[in-house]
Amino acid sequence: MMTARDRWRMYKRVSMMFFLAVVTLTVVQRGNINTGVPFQLEREAEKEPTISKRALLKKDHFQESRNVWNTSIEAITEKQGETEYGGSRTWDVASTNCTANPNFNNMGWFVGLEANFKQFLLYRHCRYFPMIINHPEKCSGETYLLIVIKSTITQHDRRDIIRKTWGREQEVDGKRVKTLFLLGKSSNELEKAHHQKLLEYEDYIYGDILQWDFLDSFFNLTLKETHFLKWFATYCGRVSYIFKGDDDVFVSIHNIFEYLEGTSADNLLVGDVLFKAKPIRRKENKYYIPQALYNKTHYPPYAGGGGFLMDGTLARKLNRASETLDLFPIDDVFLGMCLEVLRISPIKHNAFKTFGLVKSKSSRLNREPCFFKSMIVVHKLLPADLLNMWRLVNSDLICSQKAILL
Ligand SMILES: *[C@@H]1O[C@H](CO)[C@@H](O)[C@H](O)[C@H]1NC(C)=O
Ligand SMILES: *[C@@H]1O[C@H](CO)[C@@H](O)[C@H](O)[C@H]1NC(C)=O
Ligand SMILES: *[C@@H]1O[C@H](CO)[C@@H](O)[C@H](O)[C@H]1NC(C)=O
Ligand SMILES: *[C@@H]1O[C@H](CO)[C@@H](O)[C@H](O)[C@H]1NC(C)=O
Repeated sequence: MMTARDRWRMYKRVSMMFFLAVVTLTVVQRGNINTGVPFQLEREAEKEPTISKRALLKKDHFQESRNVWNTSIEAITEKQGETEYGGSRTWDVASTNCTANPNFNNMGWFVGLEANFKQFLLYRHCRYFPMIINHPEKCSGETYLLIVIKSTITQHDRRDIIRKTWGREQEVDGKRVKTLFLLGKSSNELEKAHHQKLLEYEDYIYGDILQWDFLDSFFNLTLKETHFLKWFATYCGRVSYIFKGDDDVFVSIHNIFEYLEGTSADNLLVGDVLFKAKPIRRKENKYYIPQALYNKTHYPPYAGGGGFLMDGTLARKLNRASETLDLFPIDDVFLGMCLEVLRISPIKHNAFKTFGLVKSKSSRLNREPCFFKSMIVVHKLLPADLLNMWRLVNSDLICSQKAILL
């Protein structure tokens, strides 16, 4: 005869075994034994093919289905939209095997091109490079605003001022602001020898540098854009907004917060937007583009790369859209092309001044703190001017015109 206590023991043992059996079965079903990878990650990874496979799938999809264009756009934007984060969650490019594309050399139009365009085209197919300095932990937890700044190895004074002024990491009303600098490697041997170690030390102190193994050249700024987008899609699941800009701009984080509180748009990309900009055909211009590289009369609408704001979900869509396009040597125009693929229009806002002010260097506005106080981004300030303006704007300045712009 079993006593009540025996029955209770038996009951506990059976329940325990049943529970263990269920757990074991679940684990075996998910094929998760022996991997040592946290459960959640592995499961999410299975839902998604790897990045490169996905890119291939998508390319085929795009080429076959130009006339069902709208469904393929949905495939990019919606179906894969939310699940991407939690893929492999590591930068999956470990080596570079980037050799010049031999196909161009026998094309007549190519031979006549300027040297920098030749170099660009010969290596255009090399899409991703390994990371030299990475911070996978940067986006852990919720981040409201991620500030990412294009910089180069020698501009440490600019980075320093940004860290001390508008780019400092902080929490505003419980909303976290994080900062990152995006760099390639130096093209100059001397610089490489002297500055790389300093950069690594700088990163050791501040932990805010991402560096990739490609040359930091003007035409490679597009690589910086695509590498950041891929990095963001890999590591950043819970970032609400991104401010992306140059390392010589004045930015008001306060005005960014104010702007974002008053907007609820999805697919938000706001900045100094150019509509119907014409490709520049004068060879001496920095932005010259030969007909052979772009033969349409206008670029799609795009936001000046000096500083713009976008939401995190859109950044992930842009990452996928970028993989369907050939690289274009001007980074902000390239991002406009990605927006065009997604059929999303950027928004123009007057508080973003990334073009134009340079021309009117003598303008009174350049020295007017109330003007800066009312702006979100103003382009082209040397570190010392930036610091001065920052101090003025953050003093007990009394202005009356802000309401007009925001
Ligand atoms: C899809 O595109 C085709 C042609 O480009 C158009 O006729 C059709 O109305 C579009 N469908 C939707 C749902 O937008
Ligand atoms: C690099 O690519 C070339 C051509 O695609 C190939 O012949 C070579 O073996 C590759 N080298 C390495 C180290 O992978
Ligand atoms: C971009 O970087 C890659 C890798 O360092 C290099 O091979 C290529 O020449 C660069 N392109 C331009 C246009 O500078
Ligand atoms: C423009 O370029 C595209 C792709 O490079 C090409 O297919 C097309 O024929 C070109 N059009 C003209 C008018 O040159």
